[in-house]
Amino acid sequence: MVLEIRKYPDPILSKKAERVEKIDQDIQKLIGDMIETLYAAPGVGLAAPQVGRSIRLIVFDPSVRNEEGKLTVLINPEIIEKDGEAIMKEGCLSVPGLEAEIKRAENVKVTGLDKNGNAVTIDAKGFLARVIQHEIDHLDGILLLDRIGFIKRDIFKRRLMKQLKETAREQAVK
Ligand code: NI
Repeated sequence: MVLEIRKYPDPILSKKAERVEKIDQDIQKLIGDMIETLYAAPGVGLAAPQVGRSIRLIVFDPSVRNEEGKLTVLINPEIIEKDGEAIMKEGCLSVPGLEAEIKRAENVKVTGLDKNGNAVTIDAKGFLARVIQHEIDHLDGILLLDRIGFIKRDIFKRRLMKQLKETAREQAVK
């Protein structure tokens, strides 16, 4: 089932997500739905809070953008090592209309569990490292908006509020 993607300023996007304690049927169903939602969007990565569940679960597939990598599910992911620095343009399904150059670590080592509860370690470089850092940010309630300068953020927020007001007005007229 394709799920609705929550958009800024939905408060769930700014909340720190809880660890997954048990990988049960409910989690398996959510994983399946998140993968469907990822490809339907289409996007390269999706975190559970983006579909309304404040838990530490991410899915990603860089091959959607013809980048190296494959479909991966990570539960309770943690970055245990990072090095280097890289700047790359990013967008986010939850912040449509915003693209910004973001500085992040160039390489990261990540641990977590796969969908069967097996421990996995990923040595990620380049685009993959970027996607993983972006998705883990979502689990900590951090959006692209929190990683750009305040002037850019202010401009984006003003534009969005104006749009939201206009939409509300149009709906009121109908
Ligand atoms: Ni995002």
